[in-house]
Amino acid sequence: MTLREYLAQQQRLVDSELDRLVPPETTPPETIHRAMRYSLFAGGKRIRPILCIEAARAVSPSADGVVAAACSLELIHTYSLIHDDLPALDNDDYRRGKLTNHKVFGEAMAILAGDALLTLAFQVLAGLNTTDDRKARMIAELSAASGSVGGMIGGQVADLEGEGKPPEPRLLETIHRAKTGALLRASLRLGAICAGAAGDQYAALSRFGEHVGLAFQIVDDILDVEESSEALGKTAGKDAQQGKITFPAVYGLETSRRMAAEECARAHQVLEPFGERVARLHEIADHIVRRKS
Ligand code: IPE
Ligand code: IPE
Ligand code: MG
Ligand code: MG
Ligand code: MG
Repeated sequence: MTLREYLAQQQRLVDSELDRLVPPETTPPETIHRAMRYSLFAGGKRIRPILCIEAARAVSPSADGVVAAACSLELIHTYSLIHDDLPALDNDDYRRGKLTNHKVFGEAMAILAGDALLTLAFQVLAGLNTTDDRKARMIAELSAASGSVGGMIGGQVADLEGEGKPPEPRLLETIHRAKTGALLRASLRLGAICAGAAGDQYAALSRFGEHVGLAFQIVDDILDVEESSEALGKTAGKDAQQGKITFPAVYGLETSRRMAAEECARAHQVLEPFGERVARLHEIADHIVRRKS
């Protein structure tokens, strides 16, 4: 199976599990469920859940509950995008090729849809078909990765407070590791925990997550400069316009591209002990750096 076919297959697997986990649009109050589903099924790449599933496969051929665990990452991620796009944050009109949530449902409902997706993520983990110990570890990891100390919210705060500040390498790395890197690393970690990884496997998959996580946001910053809004499904050129601290702003495009490739090479290296079982993780790392959207 080509990488493209494999990704499409995994996206379908994640989508059908999300459809099972999220209340139908007909469940009252209907508006919030329509708003949640609008953003969730707008065509995201599902990179985080796919990384989670592959991390579990690297450890064991089968892991109870891993697809639902993978979905918890996508629920958090989609919530973070809905809130990231709000007028008070990045103020964006387009996301995943469609109008942003608040443009369709209004700000109040977009805030609540984000809140509901966030809460549902932990409800899903609490209800997983796996041991209590694994559930508790996954909940601890996902909450930390989404939180204010070195997690997604902490990164979003630094990203907003950094607007218009002089682009400085240390601040840049702190922002990116927190706002995007923490959830990417958590994707690998949840898969590892779900599959019962040993300490050294957990550590290696965590390091892989850190490298691909940083590469992912470097590329997101590069694409914002280089690609069209049409290709991205979100408004291009926004970072420079808003004075964001990004890799291209600090290092320029060419160095940024080289740095993404270096992170990717490090990601490949840390997977060496796993051998053939992680062929897809290698391919996904390359895909993250080569992607055009
Ligand atoms: C975009 O994430 C926001 C970042 C954290 C960089 P993705 O590029 O994974 O967005 P979707 O899920 O495919 O829409
Ligand atoms: C968003 O970073 C990271 C999140 C936590 C959502 P960006 O603001 O760069 O994401 P895009 O470019 O709007 O997708
Ligand atoms: Mg942002
Ligand atoms: Mg944004
Ligand atoms: Mg961006």
